[in-house]
Amino acid sequence: MTDSTAPIDATRTPAWAELTAHEATFAPDLRAWFAEDAGRAERFTFALADLHVDLSKNLVTDEVLASLVRLAEQTGVADRFAAMLAGAHINTTEDRAVLHTALRRPAGASPELVVDGQDVDTDVQDVLDRVAAFANRVRSGEWTGVTGKRVTHVVNIGIGGSDLGPVMVFEALRPYADAAIQARFISNIDPTDLAQKTADLDPETTLFIVASKTFTTLETLTNARLARDWLWARLGEQAVDVASEEARTDAVARHFIAVSTALDKVAAFGIDPQNAFGFWDWVGGRYSVDSAIGTCLAIALGPDVFHELLAGFHAVDEHVRTTPLGGNVPVLMGLLNIWYTNFLGAQTHAVLPYAQQLSRFPAYLQQLTMESNGKSVRWDGSPVTSDTGEVFWGEPGTNGQHAFYQLIHQGTRLVPADFIAFANPAYPLEDDGRDVHGLFLANFLAQTKALAFGKTAEEVEAEGTTGPLVAARTFPGNRPTTSIFADALTPRVLGELIALYEHITFAQGEVWGINSFDQWGVELGKQLALQIAPAIEGDAEAAAAQDASTRALLAYYHAHRR
Ligand code: F6P
Repeated sequence: MTDSTAPIDATRTPAWAELTAHEATFAPDLRAWFAEDAGRAERFTFALADLHVDLSKNLVTDEVLASLVRLAEQTGVADRFAAMLAGAHINTTEDRAVLHTALRRPAGASPELVVDGQDVDTDVQDVLDRVAAFANRVRSGEWTGVTGKRVTHVVNIGIGGSDLGPVMVFEALRPYADAAIQARFISNIDPTDLAQKTADLDPETTLFIVASKTFTTLETLTNARLARDWLWARLGEQAVDVASEEARTDAVARHFIAVSTALDKVAAFGIDPQNAFGFWDWVGGRYSVDSAIGTCLAIALGPDVFHELLAGFHAVDEHVRTTPLGGNVPVLMGLLNIWYTNFLGAQTHAVLPYAQQLSRFPAYLQQLTMESNGKSVRWDGSPVTSDTGEVFWGEPGTNGQHAFYQLIHQGTRLVPADFIAFANPAYPLEDDGRDVHGLFLANFLAQTKALAFGKTAEEVEAEGTTGPLVAARTFPGNRPTTSIFADALTPRVLGELIALYEHITFAQGEVWGINSFDQWGVELGKQLALQIAPAIEGDAEAAAAQDASTRALLAYYHAHRR
């Protein structure tokens, strides 16, 4: 089903003209808006599955929000979402369907999803069942290494979407992990990563998962080969017979599994196809944590936890599918981002989780949002007509408070921020009778309040401050935030959070008319690295072919390399 729908130019819609008019006279005043409108907090707060999403501290009026919703209507966001769910090839540059939502449809979902002749539901459930069965064998000790010892460490080797999702989810749900099985993640081709993460491992109890959608990624395949060499060498040191070809093949079969869409390449690497778990080209790398790419999670956290995660994703998919645009939370959040990016001049967006377990969430979102929406052409190849993807960044609170919040509070740039918090901690600890998590949450509430309402010069002076210090201690306020609150960071809630951001990203991409599902921008660097590698290795001709700056950097390298 090739998709030939032309992108609608958002900047030519009546809604864009309305927003331009709003912008011309826009004078945000959260203090006054809250003081004069007793219903604001309630009206701008939404329930999204288990998430309580408070948009009231954003710089929007009812009129602006209504225009934004009209923008989504006039750019066909709802139709495009329906097209995506139905399997239309909305990834035009790769002529592919975009069906990550199919990965979390519950077993027996109806009507059945058949796309391009593939019975998607059946295939998804088959792989899920195989992953669960394998995970249970590892967890129960039925699956052992080559010397009969059970697995204590599962090491995921992957990069980008084949790493960031698994590592983020593992860190987030670590309290659910099986104490007997540790998970580790190797991604960087910097040899430090593999050297440090294998240094204390026992090869007899280590299981590597080579996770790569394409099974061609330089970093991952290099690390997989290094890990295989490490396995053979370390087993040999422990007097395990790896002298013969057959013994080495055996060792790989017991200590390596793979996840990929390219199962032929997996077999060529020497991994037993029985121990390979597939997915499909309609799952983008950055949308793949809920596919077999999550195999390390099913092993370390358990299949039940993985299923709960999927159920959370699905709950949000259902919300997006069934809720009109005006109450559709991911769409509203995407539209607010459009307002900030295209009308109020924001260039970045902070994501600030008040949960140490979400320490990798901002890094995960960077790939999701920036690889998806960092584009300058639309899905038909024509230039974009407005600015697109903002820079996403963040750190968990309260660490960020002691680092970069100064700029958000008093700097000259507008930085919309999402705060994410949970009513119940994974580790309830007390300090001298005081609930430490409560103190943590007081910081979350205090920061969003300070950002919204600031502190006037009069208030500063009333505290006895005079002279130039008054200006320095004044907070302008009107710094927009969204608060996302949930009961606890459970697998289901985490799935909901991830799906929320997937759909925010989609809504923004649709308004801009871009294909949020390709990533051609990473190709040039990959190609050039392959061209430059011989020059690094001493090929004078390859070095001479480089530009003057690269030649000088190569010369520096060769002069200093020991
Ligand atoms: O960075 C480019 C990219 O293609 C990502 O989109 C992808 O997640 C990553 O590389 C890893 O790719 P693969 O899973 O094929 O190894």
